[in-house]
Amino acid sequence: MKKIDNNLSHIIKSLKSSYGTEFFNSLTLQLHQLIASDYTFIAKLDKDKYVSQTISLVAKGEISDNFEYSLIDTPCANVSDDTACIYLEKICQLYPSDQLLIDMKIEGYIGTPLHDSNGEIIGLIVALYEHAITNSDTVTALFDLFSGRISAELEREDKEKQLTELNDLLEEKVNERTSELSSAIDRLRFTQDKLIEQEKMASLGNLVAGIAHEINTPLGVAVLCSSNIEDALEKLNSKIESNSLTKSELESLISTLNQSEESLSFNLRRAANLVDNFKEMAVSINSDDLIDINISSWLNSLVGSLRPMLYKKNITVELLVDEHITSFTTCPAKMSQVFTNIISNSSIHAFEENDGISDRNIIISTKICNDILSIKINDNGKGMTDETIKKIFEPFYTTKRGKGGTGLGLSIVHNIIINNLSGKLAVESTVGKGTCFNLEFPALT
Ligand SMILES: Nc1ncnc2c1ncn2[C@@H]1O[C@H](COP(=O)(O)OP(=O)(O)O)[C@@H](O)[C@H]1O
Ligand SMILES: [Mg+2]
Repeated sequence: MKKIDNNLSHIIKSLKSSYGTEFFNSLTLQLHQLIASDYTFIAKLDKDKYVSQTISLVAKGEISDNFEYSLIDTPCANVSDDTACIYLEKICQLYPSDQLLIDMKIEGYIGTPLHDSNGEIIGLIVALYEHAITNSDTVTALFDLFSGRISAELEREDKEKQLTELNDLLEEKVNERTSELSSAIDRLRFTQDKLIEQEKMASLGNLVAGIAHEINTPLGVAVLCSSNIEDALEKLNSKIESNSLTKSELESLISTLNQSEESLSFNLRRAANLVDNFKEMAVSINSDDLIDINISSWLNSLVGSLRPMLYKKNITVELLVDEHITSFTTCPAKMSQVFTNIISNSSIHAFEENDGISDRNIIISTKICNDILSIKINDNGKGMTDETIKKIFEPFYTTKRGKGGTGLGLSIVHNIIINNLSGKLAVESTVGKGTCFNLEFPALT
């Protein structure tokens, strides 16, 4: 008894931190040695298939390969019905159809059922002897002692397997959802690109329609003028041929010709102007190269190129450039479109003949803060009403229709600043005081 006690505490210690196959094999082997059986095994039951699958088998002192066997006509079938079975001898006579027992020449059989935490039978532990059993009490006591721990380990393994399966399923689901989401994102992106393209086409369509409409007016007048000129010339020719041209008739025809020609060239210039603006707009849709520029010298040369136009109107331009700005990365082609439009607007709209403004000036001041370049373009001209301010960025809005205005300038400026230069634009204006355009540009990369 003392020997068994010692062995028991050794078994319990050795199993302390072992799990799974290692646990089952170690326990089966140690029990096998303790009870001196010829075969000892732990098996799991599959009630649906009515089979038993060993998960640890020791044969004659050696761990052996596991196997599955049918429960039909075996003593194990009784164990699986929750009966501890002890047959001290002649087991083969009791189960003459159990060929396995016969082949192995088994005499004695002890089997104990294994229960899960719900009391369900999940397996069995069995000892087989080739001779009559003499220590059945010890065997059943040991089997009873360890059955709880074996069942717990079987259950733990089962739960772990379920968890792994669940985990795999979850991972599969996550992958499935991820790929669904990513294809949804792809579809969204595609739709978005299509929408942007449609939007572009629609605005291009509007633009073309606007251009056609705008050009139609001066061209219609030009055609009318040209036919007036034709009529006058025809009249002149027939009068000359019939020798009946009077001085007053000649004077009146020349006056008609002069007026028509003046109107013809005015309207043709206007049409050409519209086409130029349209080209500008089309160019601004395509991006240009990014260059590191020195804002001070760049603004100086830009203002220089506009000097003749400003000079005509007696406008002075003052440049107040923050000396900290040495270089700035931007798209100069787009920037010059912006500045040319705003400055020429001041010269055309802010200052008019006989407006009584004696010191006409435009002040351009620049500042850089957190890599954002801020530029103010301030004129001291006639300013704008609130009504005008609301509409100035709309294409074709002009207060100079019929006098050279196309209404495209500021809509081009807006488009370039927002879409090409990723900047911001705001306008402040007071009638009688002047207008200030506040621009902000991030350095482009
Ligand atoms: N500096 C300014 N001072 C007063 N009015 C301005 C100024 N700049 C623009 N505007 C107003 O904004 C309108 C739209 O300008 P824009 O789009 O360039 O078209 P356009 O110059 O062909 O009229 C102008 O017709 C004018 O009424
Ligand atoms: Mg303009």
